Amino acid sequence: MKIVTVVGARPQFIKCAPLSKELSREHDEILVHTGQHYDHNMSSLFFEELGIPKPDYNLGIGSGNQGEQTGRMIAEIEKVLLKESPDAVLVYGDTNSTLAGALAASKLHIKLAHVEAGLRSFDKTMPEEINRILTDHCSDLLLAPTKTAVTNLGAEGIKEGVRLVGDVMLDALMQNLVAAEKSSVLRKLGLREKDYLLATVHRQSNTDDAKNLASILEAFAEIGGNIVFPVHPRTMKFIRQNGLERRCGKNVSLVEPLGYLDFLALEKNAKKILTDSGGIQKEAYMLKVPCITLRDNTEWVETVEDGWNILVGTDKKRIVEAATGFNPASGQRNVFGEGGSSRKIVECLMAFD
Ligand code: UD1
Ligand code: UDP
Repeated sequence: MKIVTVVGARPQFIKCAPLSKELSREHDEILVHTGQHYDHNMSSLFFEELGIPKPDYNLGIGSGNQGEQTGRMIAEIEKVLLKESPDAVLVYGDTNSTLAGALAASKLHIKLAHVEAGLRSFDKTMPEEINRILTDHCSDLLLAPTKTAVTNLGAEGIKEGVRLVGDVMLDALMQNLVAAEKSSVLRKLGLREKDYLLATVHRQSNTDDAKNLASILEAFAEIGGNIVFPVHPRTMKFIRQNGLERRCGKNVSLVEPLGYLDFLALEKNAKKILTDSGGIQKEAYMLKVPCITLRDNTEWVETVEDGWNILVGTDKKRIVEAATGFNPASGQRNVFGEGGSSRKIVECLMAFD
C-alpha cells in the first residue's frame, strides 16, 4: 500500500516514530510534515533522536490563527495527495494538522485512518475537541487507543471501521526507555531522583488567559522545592507578553523544551508531574508517576478513575494542595494495552485494504 502520513506537531512526531518503522517493513510511506511546529527542539530534534525518516514534503506552514493555519495546510496537503494518489491517508491525534489532513483526504475520497480516534473531553471550547470530532466523522478506519474511546465513538453513531488497538505512545515509551536511562539531564539540571516536580503548560485556556497562567505560576512558587519546567514556545510568548517572569518562584527552573529521551528521563524520576498535556498524562500513568492535571477535564479518564491523575484546573489552592496531598493508593489496569499497537495498526490497514 502507498500511505501518506500527515504530521506537524511535537506529539505526532513521537507517535509516528514506532508506527513509521513498522509501516516501512511492508508499505510505501510518504511522510508529510505540515511545518506546524518548526523550532529545532519542537521538530527536527525528534526526527534525529527517534530515527524518523526525513519528511518527503515539508509544507512550511508555521504558526497562525486557527482558520488561516488550517486552511493553508488543507490547500498544500491537497496538492501532495493529488500528486501522490495514495491508497490511504494516516493522521494522528487532534491538532490542526490532523484536521487538515482529514479534510483534504476525505474530500478527495481517499481512505482516511485516524490514530487516537474516539478521544473526547466534551469541551468544545478546546480547538482539539473540534479537530477530533470532525476527523473521526471523516475517517474510514478509527484506531481507538482505549475502550472509552470506542464507547465515545459508538455514542456518536460511529461503529463501522472502529478498531481497539492500544496506544502507540506506549510503543514509543517502551522502545526508548533504555536510551532515556542514559540521559544526563538530571545531572545537567542538578536534580536528584524523586526530589523534584516536573511541569509543562501549553493549553490555549491556560496560556492565552493571563489570569490562569499567573495562577499556575504562583502555585508553582508556593509549592516550593525543585520544579523543573520545560517551557513550550507558546507559553514562553505569553509569560513574556504579560510580564509574568516575576511571578515565577526561584524554585522553578524554566528551561527550553527538551528532546524526548531527556524528557522521558525527567518524567520517570519525578516525584510528581504537573501538566495540561494529553500525552504527558498518559506517560505519567505508564511510568507510575502521580499526575496533577491543570485542567477541569481530560480525555484520558481512566488515569483519573485509577487514582493516578487528579484534575485541579488552574485554582492556586487546589494545585498547591495536590502537590503535597495527592498520593495514588490504588493499582493500575492495562488501559493503554500491552504495547504492540503499531503492529496492530499495520494489520488493520492491510485488512482494510
Ligand atoms: C498544538 C496543538 C495542540 C498540541 C500541541 C503540542 C492545535 C490547535 N494545537 O498546540 O493540540 O497539544 O501543539 O505541543 O493544533 N511556536 C513556536 N515555535 C514552534 C511552534 C509554535 O514559537 O515551533 C509558538 C508560536 O508562537 C505559535 C504558538 O507557539 O503561535 C502556538 O503554536 P501552534 O502550533 O499553533 O499550537 P500549540 O499551542 O503548539
Ligand atoms: N515532550 C518532550 N519534550 C518536552 C515536553 C514534552 O519530548 O519538553 C514529549 C512528551 O514526552 C510527550 C509529548 O511530548 O510524548 C507530549 O506533547 P505535548 O505536551 O506537546 O502535546 P499533547 O500531548 O498535549 O498534545
